[in-house]
Amino acid sequence: MKTLLLYASKHGATRNAAEKLAGQLEGEVKIINLQDKGSADVSVEDYERVIIGGSIYIGKIQKSISKFCETNLEKLLKVKKLGLFICCGEEAKALEQLAAAFPAELLKKAAAKGYFGHELKLEKLNFVSRTMIKKITGVKKNESKIKEENIKKFAEEMV
Ligand SMILES: Cc1cc2nc3c(=O)[nH]c(=O)nc-3n(C[C@H](O)[C@H](O)[C@H](O)COP(=O)(O)O)c2cc1C
Repeated sequence: MKTLLLYASKHGATRNAAEKLAGQLEGEVKIINLQDKGSADVSVEDYERVIIGGSIYIGKIQKSISKFCETNLEKLLKVKKLGLFICCGEEAKALEQLAAAFPAELLKKAAAKGYFGHELKLEKLNFVSRTMIKKITGVKKNESKIKEENIKKFAEEMV
């Protein structure tokens, strides 16, 4: 089964999670960072499985992801298997933020919906972002909490 795995990642957490997921999927997997490439040459209709993931900043998923979902909504609804995931720092709000990140039609269609944890590298952030993240998540030092078990479950649900 051919899989398209699209993601957006500001500091690398979602990229790490996407790469871990790709390693657990059977068959050919094409991974595209939507922020690097844009979506002009991405044809979802060429794939049986499509997986889309991004990270949450101030309550929202990256614009490149929401724009891609809006533009390709009809095509995504016809894909054989669809999976959606997020990375975010506030685990207690993960489901709520996932529900707000993707169009309702896609959430309804998705065979798998996942929260893949988060990573925080404070040295990569400017002062404003560092202050904001400490306030939002309470995290005060570097953290890597990618949820391996959630990625495994997601991969199984996408079979
Ligand atoms: C400025 C800033 C704002 C953030 N806002 C939120 C937020 O509103 N909710 C949340 O759950 N996590 C928030 N996070 C945490 C990120 O979603 C988390 O660090 C994630 O792993 C980043 O993934 P990425 O490196 O792939 O972009 C924020 C992080 C930063 C730096």
